[in-house]
Amino acid sequence: MDYLEYFEKFPDSYAKVAVSFDRSRTLNAYLANNGLLENISSILSIGPGEGEVEIKIAKESEIEFGIVEPSKTLFDQLMTNARDADVESKLLEAHQQSFEEFQPARKYDLVLSLFSWFAFGFDQRLLTKALSCRNPNGKLLICLQSESSPSTKISAVSRSSGINLTSETLSTWATSQGFQHEFDIYHGTVPADRFILHGELTQMGKDFASFLTATPWNEIPNEVKSVTLNSLRQAQHEDLIDFQCGCLIFSD
Ligand SMILES: C[S@@+](CC[C@H](N)C(=O)[O-])C[C@H]1O[C@@H](n2cnc3c(N)ncnc32)[C@H](O)[C@@H]1O
Repeated sequence: MDYLEYFEKFPDSYAKVAVSFDRSRTLNAYLANNGLLENISSILSIGPGEGEVEIKIAKESEIEFGIVEPSKTLFDQLMTNARDADVESKLLEAHQQSFEEFQPARKYDLVLSLFSWFAFGFDQRLLTKALSCRNPNGKLLICLQSESSPSTKISAVSRSSGINLTSETLSTWATSQGFQHEFDIYHGTVPADRFILHGELTQMGKDFASFLTATPWNEIPNEVKSVTLNSLRQAQHEDLIDFQCGCLIFSD
C-alpha cells in the first residue's frame, strides 16, 4: 500500500492521532520561538491535513496561507475548520490535489511540509519545486520524525511503504544532492499517559499503532503490538514521551 492510499483508507485514524500530539501547541511554539513566523505574510502548506497548525497561525497573526492537500476527507475538514475559526478569508488558495499535480501560481515567504514529505522521499524534482514556491528570501521547512522517535521504530514495522522516512536520512540525502540547509530538532513532548497507562496501551496508544502500521488494531499481529508498546515505553522519561522530530530549514 502506498502512502496516499493509506491516507485515503485511514483518514479518521490520522485525525485521532493528530489530536494526541497537540501540535498546535508544541509545533506552533517551535515555529514562533525559532523566528520562522517573523516578518512574513504568507505560508504555503504542502499536505496540511486538517490544517490545525496553519489555522492557528492565521488566527493569531496577519499571515495568510495557501494549501495543497490531496485527501478529500482532510481537505474538507480543513475548509470546515478554517470557516469555524473565521480565517477563510486568509486562504490565498486551496487545492484538493497532490503536490506533484499542483501548479504554483504565486510565491510564499514560508513553505511548510509538516510530516508530509513521506509522500515524496528522495525526489530531487519535487524538492526543487518546493524551493521554487518561495519568495527570494523565503524559507522551506520540512519536518519529519527523527531516528530516535518511537514513531520511527513503529513505522519500521508498518505495512505502508514510505512512512518510515526520517528527517536524518532526508537531510543526508539532500546534502549529498547539494541542497544546503540547517538541521534542527523540535521536541514534540506530550504526557505519556495519553499512550500508556498501567503498563498497557490506552485507546490513543492503540489508535497511534493502527495509524503507523496502517492496520486496524484487532488485525495487528501480537509481535507488532509488542513493538509498539515497547517503543513507547522505552521513549518514556518520567511522565513524558518525546516524539522528537528533525526540521530541515532551507534558506535563500
Ligand atoms: C502525516 S499527515 C500530516 C498532516 C499535517 N501536516 C500534520 O502535521 O498534522 C501527511 C499529510 O500529507 C498529505 N499528502 C499525502 N500525499 C501527498 C501528496 N502527494 N501531496 C501533498 N500532500 C500529500 C496527506 O494527505 C496528509 O494530509
